[in-house]
Amino acid sequence: MFFSIKAHNYTKFLLMSVVTMAVSSDFFDCYAGTGAPSSSNSDKEIASDFLDSVSQNQQANKKEDVLSFSDIVGDNFIFSNEKGFKFSFSNLKGHVLVIAFSTTWCPNCPVVLKSLDVLKKKLLQQEIYNVGVITLNIGDEDIKAVKDHYAEYGIENLSAYESVAHANGIEGVPVCFVFDKEGKQAAKYLGWHDFASDDFIAFLKKLAAKKVNDYSSKKKGSTIGSGKVWKKMEVLKYGNPILKKKCAPVEVGDKEAPELLEQMLQQMYESDGVGLAAPQVGISKRMVVIDVRQEPAKVYKMINPKIVWKSEETAELIEGCLSVPGVYETVKRPASVSVEYLDETFKPCFIEKATGILAACLQHEIDHLDGKLYVDHLSRIKRARLISKYKKLQEQQEPISDNSGEGQQAQQQ
Ligand code: NI
Repeated sequence: MFFSIKAHNYTKFLLMSVVTMAVSSDFFDCYAGTGAPSSSNSDKEIASDFLDSVSQNQQANKKEDVLSFSDIVGDNFIFSNEKGFKFSFSNLKGHVLVIAFSTTWCPNCPVVLKSLDVLKKKLLQQEIYNVGVITLNIGDEDIKAVKDHYAEYGIENLSAYESVAHANGIEGVPVCFVFDKEGKQAAKYLGWHDFASDDFIAFLKKLAAKKVNDYSSKKKGSTIGSGKVWKKMEVLKYGNPILKKKCAPVEVGDKEAPELLEQMLQQMYESDGVGLAAPQVGISKRMVVIDVRQEPAKVYKMINPKIVWKSEETAELIEGCLSVPGVYETVKRPASVSVEYLDETFKPCFIEKATGILAACLQHEIDHLDGKLYVDHLSRIKRARLISKYKKLQEQQEPISDNSGEGQQAQQQ
C-alpha cells in the first residue's frame, strides 16, 4: 500500500533565517514586477507590460533560498480539498509539482493564479499526469472563501484547498515553487511568470522525464537486521498474473519466512510504502509487512493474517499501491477491523479493532493475498479512468535519454 505518511524523506537544504511569520498583510510584500497592472478588475486583460516583466524571477534558484515543501509548511501538512479528500505531500512523490502560495487580498495573485489555471488545463489536454499544479492560500479564510475567490476570477481548473495557516520562509506572494520528482526545489518564481507558456511546459516535461533513481548505490547490498545482505526485490506491476492469484498459507515453522519478511520490510521502506504483500514481490504466500509510521512506532510482520471482524461503519481514504504506482483513488472500506496473524516467530497475535490508516492498510494488504487490488473496489468507470491514467503515466516515466550508467537499469516489467 502506498498511503505514505512518512515524514518527508526529501533532502533538506540549508535554510537561511527561516522565521515563522504571522500571516497578515502587514508582513507581506506583494510581488508584481515593474509595470504590473492591478488585477482588481476581475480577470480582464492582463497588460502586456506586466506579462513582460519577469525581472523578479532572476531571484529564482538562488542557493540560499532553496526550501523544501516541508520546510515551508511543516512536516505534517495535509491537503484537504473542497470535497473533503485528504492527502499528504509524500503522496505526491514521483510527481513534478508546481506549488504556488497566494492570498485573497493580494492584487497580483489572481493574475498568477490565472496563468497557473491555464497551465493546469494545458497539462490535462496534453495528458501529462505526472505534473501537479497546486495553489495554496495563505491566510485564515475557509475553503469556501478560497473557492469563491477563484470563481470570481474565472479560475476553473485549480482545486481549492484549506488555507495554510503558517508558511515559513515566505516573504511575499505570489510565490511559486517547482519541485522535481524527488521533492527537491527546481525553481522559484516571485511574482509574475508566464506559467502557461510553451517554454515553462517544456521545462516541466524535462523534469518529468527524468528518471528517479530509486535505489541509491549506498543502499545496495546494505545489511539487514539478521546480518544478511538485503537484495533489491522487484515489485510486480499491475497486469502481472501473480498479483491475481490467491496465495497459499505459510506452513508453521517455514524456515524461509522470517528472512523473507525482513527483506520485504526493507523493500517496503525503500519503495516508500506503508505496506507490502508477498505476491507483490513474486512470492505467492500469505505474508504481509506493514508500518504506517504512526506513533508509537509499530512494525507488523504478519504470517497468514486473517480478518476476523469488520465494522458495519465504513470510512473513505485515498489509497495507492506500489504495484500501481503514481495513481491514487478514494476507497471505501469498513472503518475498523480485527485481525489474527502469526508473527515472524510464528507466535499467534491479534489486532483488536484497528482504525484509520492501519485498518485500511490491513484490508488492502490482505486483499493482495486473495489476488485483489484496491482498484477492484472502484466502480468500473473510476477504475477504467485510473488504469488509463496509470498506463499513460508509465509511458511518461520512461527516460527520454540518460547518459549516466545508473539510468541504464532495466525498467521493471
Ligand atoms: Ni498494494
